Amino acid sequence: MSLVTTKEMFKKANEGGYAIGAFNINNMEVLQGIVDAAEENKSAVIVQCSSGAIKYARPIYLKKLIDAAVEDTTIDIALHLDHGADFQICKECVDLGFTSVMIDASKYSLEENIRITKEVVEYAHANGVVVEAELGKLAGVEDEVNVSAEDATYTNAKEAQEFVEKTGCDSLAVAIGTSHGANKFSGEPKLAYNRLQEIQDLLPEGYPLVLHGSSSVYPESVAVCNEFGGQLKNTSGVPDAMLSKACTEFNVCKINVDTDLRIAMTGGIRKSFAENPSNFDPRKYLGPAREAVRASVSHKIKNVFKSGNSCK
Ligand code: G3H
Ligand code: 13P
Ligand code: ZN
Repeated sequence: MSLVTTKEMFKKANEGGYAIGAFNINNMEVLQGIVDAAEENKSAVIVQCSSGAIKYARPIYLKKLIDAAVEDTTIDIALHLDHGADFQICKECVDLGFTSVMIDASKYSLEENIRITKEVVEYAHANGVVVEAELGKLAGVEDEVNVSAEDATYTNAKEAQEFVEKTGCDSLAVAIGTSHGANKFSGEPKLAYNRLQEIQDLLPEGYPLVLHGSSSVYPESVAVCNEFGGQLKNTSGVPDAMLSKACTEFNVCKINVDTDLRIAMTGGIRKSFAENPSNFDPRKYLGPAREAVRASVSHKIKNVFKSGNSCK
């Protein structure tokens, strides 16, 4: 097998009424947890790296780890740059062999976002790579993704139509109420499905939409962290059923998850530290952490995104 783009994955997902999970990686254990879960469910998967992840693990290490995953499995894997901030980082990832890049110029004006995205699309397409872009602003605060809650605005459907027409981007990340991190809603979780419908009505038939900030922040995973010394407070995420609705009833083809894997991994490590205080072999705590990632990804693929058997 070799890495694939998301083109075919999204087409099949749209026709089949499911979505492909896009999971962030920073190291070998997280990658193995994701890929093992995808393989076990015979599901296509998108492995994505933020610029922070690339800086942390170093580009060549990440790329070779993913090459190993591809060689070791039978499923379709796409390698995607998450939240590329400018043309340069997108170009570096295209040149390194990524099959998909995200240019996130959503903080700029519509005109500037179109100009920057178009430049990335031209370079990526000339190299056989697909491009995800973003329009609208997600609330939330994470390392390299900082947008204040006040600034959060849903994607405008008419602007989305103009944006896709003018840039030629292959998929569009939309803001409909999700946000990055572990504290997504102050009250009841709510997604703007009516806005999602308006957006897809103005885009070409079957045009792939993407949801960022879609961790569910499961209370039971938070409880494991907190039981063993963690202090995660006021957590809330997007319930599984709301994500299932987005991918089965709308053209949402890609759902991004990072926070849930971070919580699963941290819970696994904290539990192992607490239960085996005399251990100093990293494999003995990274192993359970990898298993916690696998279990979380497997649940999402099978029960939430419904992409199991997409690679039969
Ligand atoms: O959307 C952001 C992802 O969770 C990546 O976060 O920039 O801290 O790697 P990061
Ligand atoms: P979460 O923080 O909800 O996991 O979102 C991750 C994400 O959108 C990565 O781009
Ligand atoms: Zn994101």
